[in-house]
Parts: sequence; structure tokens; C-alpha cells
Amino acid sequence: MAGRLKVGVLISGRGSNLQALIDAAKDPSYPAEIVLVLSNKPDAKGLERAAGAGIATAVISHKDFADRKSFDGAMTEALESAGVELICLAGFMRLLSAEFVEHWRDRMINIHPSLLPLLPGLDTHERALEMGLRLHGCSVHFVRQEMDSGPLIGQAAVPVLPDDDAESLAARVLEAEHRLYPACLKLLAEGRVKVEGERCRVEGTPSAQALVNPLA
Ligand code: GRF
Repeated sequence: MAGRLKVGVLISGRGSNLQALIDAAKDPSYPAEIVLVLSNKPDAKGLERAAGAGIATAVISHKDFADRKSFDGAMTEALESAGVELICLAGFMRLLSAEFVEHWRDRMINIHPSLLPLLPGLDTHERALEMGLRLHGCSVHFVRQEMDSGPLIGQAAVPVLPDDDAESLAARVLEAEHRLYPACLKLLAEGRVKVEGERCRVEGTPSAQALVNPLA
């Protein structure tokens, strides 16, 4: 199919969200294709997933660069020579320089395991339990300089159940992540997401449903 959006995925580890994107893009009618998977860690498991799917990979280790700016510059070079039009961050564990974020402004998205703007940062599942949240979830958003901020494209909510620990809650959220990320990328690649100021307008008809927890 001509005109699929060319996507570069940045990872640092396991790559289960990368896998969800790979699986979605296997369908030739999916409007995006992954042209490069880039990791800052040579032993990231996601690199094997990419190679297994016949996708080009690159390792750019932050340890080989004097500063963040030159590391980010090398990443941009690799991404652009692969023809990347949109970056998906998928468990990429490095902070990005202001230059990099500006260069890819509105062309870089991230998935985060909480219902942003609640719980930016790490250990979201532990903190959701500590706070006694009844609903938790994940968000896909455009990337801005401030960590885990930026216009929201999509969110998925899951219930927090009475016997949850961080592990069981993380697993429930991860399942939702694997559905949400490919769905958001599809909308974007179809040109149905517009950034207006610091919000997104998403064209389409959402199903009118409410998730209520506990269901009384
Ligand atoms: C996911 O929970 C994602 O939301 C967060 O980092 C984790 C990456 O997991 N940004 P994986 O590498 O995709 O399995």
C-alpha cells in the first residue's frame, strides 16, 4: 500500500508495545509501517522482536556521546536517513533534549502507564494503589519538553480491583496499552488527529460508554 506513514520506534527494553505496533502494521491495510527500531541499549529485548519481524534496527548508546545534545543529534540523523516521519516512544528511558523535542514537535508520541495528567513519572502502578484510585490506565500523547506532558491523543481506563498488587495492576494496564497504542497511531496516520494549542481534536465518533468502578 502506497503512502503508509513511516514510523521510527524508540525503545530501551522489553518492547511489548513495540510488538503491538509490529503486529498491527503486519496488516497491509494498516496506515503506518515501522521503518526503524532504535534502542539506546544494545541488549534491549525489543531489538530481537524487530529483527524477527524483518525491521531495520539501530543501537545508539548514550554512553558513546559526551552530552545529551550530540546523542540526540545522532538519533535524529539515523531516523531521518531511514525516512522516519513520526516517532513512537515505547519504553524509551532517556530524557530528550529541548532541541530534539522541538525538532520532532507534533511528530513524536509516547505511551505512559497512567491516566495523565495524573501520575507522570515512574512507579505509576504502586502510586495508583497508594492513592486508592478506583480507575487507572494509560495515555498516548504528543511529546513536549516537560516529562509525560503534551496533547492527549487517547486514553484507556481499567478498574483497580480489591486484591490488586502493583504487578497485577501493571499487567491489566499493559493489556490496555497494547490496544491503545496501535489504535492511536492508526488515527494519526489517517490524518484524523489535529493538534490545536495544547489539545488534540480527534475526528471520529467515539462510542458513548462510561466505565464505572465498582459496578454496583
Ligand atoms: C510501558 O508501560 C509504557 O507505558 C512505558 O514503558 C513501558 C514499556 O514497556 N512508557 P514495553 O517495553 O513496551 O514492554
